[in-house]
Amino acid sequence: MSVEHEDLDLRPLTALVTGATSGIGRAVAERLAADGMSVVVTGRNARRGAETVDEITAVGGEARFVQADLEDPAGIDRLAGEVGEIDVLVNNAGHAVLAPTEEMKVSDYDSMFAGNVRAAFFLVAAFAPAMAARGSGSVINMGSMAGSLGLARGAAYGATKAALASLTQSWTAEYSGRGVRFNTVAPGPVYTSGATREFFDAIAETTAMKRAAEPAEIAELVAFLASSKAGYITGATVAVDGGRTAI
Ligand SMILES: NC(=O)c1ccc[n+]([C@@H]2O[C@H](COP(=O)([O-])OP(=O)(O)OC[C@H]3O[C@@H](n4cnc5c(N)ncnc54)[C@H](OP(=O)(O)O)[C@@H]3O)[C@@H](O)[C@H]2O)c1
Repeated sequence: MSVEHEDLDLRPLTALVTGATSGIGRAVAERLAADGMSVVVTGRNARRGAETVDEITAVGGEARFVQADLEDPAGIDRLAGEVGEIDVLVNNAGHAVLAPTEEMKVSDYDSMFAGNVRAAFFLVAAFAPAMAARGSGSVINMGSMAGSLGLARGAAYGATKAALASLTQSWTAEYSGRGVRFNTVAPGPVYTSGATREFFDAIAETTAMKRAAEPAEIAELVAFLASSKAGYITGATVAVDGGRTAI
């Protein structure tokens, strides 16, 4: 059967990557752009956002920056309104405040749940219905090995990551019958500006591989889950942690 040229959908897929101004999110944005996606880079820091966009466009990719503070529900609404329709959502933005339970400040607890969990929830609420109406889409949530391991000083942070894995399963029940896939990526230690190199090296010693990852190693898994190659994978939490949760 011949297909008329105008029948082909040549529109590049659009991906929104939160927390793409640094670390894992920046690597994900670069990797998805290298796969030909048009990438919306978001974060609070406009200078680092522009750097990410420049790195992508310098090698022929397509990207734009939209500034947003995802701990602010109004910021999420504005972001969703500015971005429009997307095919891939990577809920990567997040931060960790580690402290003994009795020393955790309410403000730090609340900001972790607002930025790591509530933001992902309301971004899915904003974007998943249109994906479901079109019958396709992929959402990747950035979990952590801390979501399935007990780490001293990491009770609240680990709970935000376990929440994302739980949401991934519920969203799978809610939307995957209409073609939208949801998965959680659960990294082990990854060298980023989220903590010092010494911090990541100490955690690296607890992994089977005795090393931390580079952000690009996490981005490879995200790119695979975003692609049609992962067409039958939904509802999963996939570890990319040097074997830490296996031992
Ligand atoms: N590094 C690790 O070992 C590791 C392991 C497991 C999971 N993770 C997860 O991976 C994700 C990325 O972390 P990373 O290590 O790459 O850290 P990072 O380099 O500090 O990057 C964090 C990103 O999140 C964005 N962000 C944080 N709070 C935000 C907010 N309120 N509104 C908008 N953007 C916000 C930051 O953007 P701005 O600075 O521009 O606001 C930045 O782009 C996080 O969810 C983290 O929990 C990291």
